[in-house]
Amino acid sequence: MSAPATEFAAPAGTERRDPHAVVEVVDVSVNFGGIAALTDVRLSAREGQITGLIGPNGAGKTTLFNVITGLQEPTHGRVWFGDRDVSGLPPYKRARRGVARTFQRLEVFGSLTVFENVLAAAEFRRSWSNDDTPARTVAAEIIRRVGLSVVADARVDSLPTGLARLVELGRALATRPRLLLLDEVGSGLSHEETEALGDLMVDLTRDGTAILLVEHDVELVMRVCDRIFVLDFGRIIATGTPAQVQKDPAVQAAYLGAAPESRGGPS
Ligand SMILES: Nc1ncnc2c1ncn2[C@@H]1O[C@H](COP(=O)(O)OP(=O)(O)OP(=O)(O)O)[C@@H](O)[C@H]1O
Ligand SMILES: [Mg+2]
Repeated sequence: MSAPATEFAAPAGTERRDPHAVVEVVDVSVNFGGIAALTDVRLSAREGQITGLIGPNGAGKTTLFNVITGLQEPTHGRVWFGDRDVSGLPPYKRARRGVARTFQRLEVFGSLTVFENVLAAAEFRRSWSNDDTPARTVAAEIIRRVGLSVVADARVDSLPTGLARLVELGRALATRPRLLLLDEVGSGLSHEETEALGDLMVDLTRDGTAILLVEHDVELVMRVCDRIFVLDFGRIIATGTPAQVQKDPAVQAAYLGAAPESRGGPS
């Protein structure tokens, strides 16, 4: 049977279709009681690219992250990492295969310092990785990269939320992921900090990291993403480059509209 060349025109099924995908979600549905949080979602994130996942509140973005990381078992569908079907694997085994995430609700250790938080993640990775770079060296390098050197010795619960989110990003990076899932990591940051975050994301893709980005800051999404998937009420309603998605009437109706201004945008 000849597979169609276009990546999203594939007939329904649970086989992976995107040969470039670091992660591919195939026909995933999640029901919470009577709520269809996700319905037949198909999405991929590719090596060395930033893939945006946008949509209104309650569209199912965080639920999809939970499906990818193994925290949420889908009602239907599969998750592939490269050519491995990981659908049955628990979260820690997926982490070892190179997946890291940040949480929309912070999951950092507030009573520890920035350095200690990132160090814990670097040590966690040492427990399974062959890389014998000392965890302290990794932690220091990551903290510099995310721009937190000045507050490295501060307790995380003394930081503004925006910077605490960067600590989460640092913890995720300390595991040296191939796939990085960012759930509103930019919220609470100033305009300058958001710009720096965008630059950092682009920089991370240069060594092949795949980023899947959930973000309400439309300007940031449009600036950094290679491709964007738009979710609305648990369904993918559009896929394409930022320019294509912005022009899509269904997206404008569901989400964007006059959103960049009404959401505050850069002041
Ligand atoms: N554990 C759960 N039990 C029941 N319903 C849930 C659960 N988690 C999410 N939902 C529901 O599933 C839908 C999708 O929620 P989800 O948090 O994935 O949306 P989201 O796109 O991340 O929204 P936001 O932009 O507000 O973060 C919502 O209707 C939500 O109320
Ligand atoms: Mg969410």
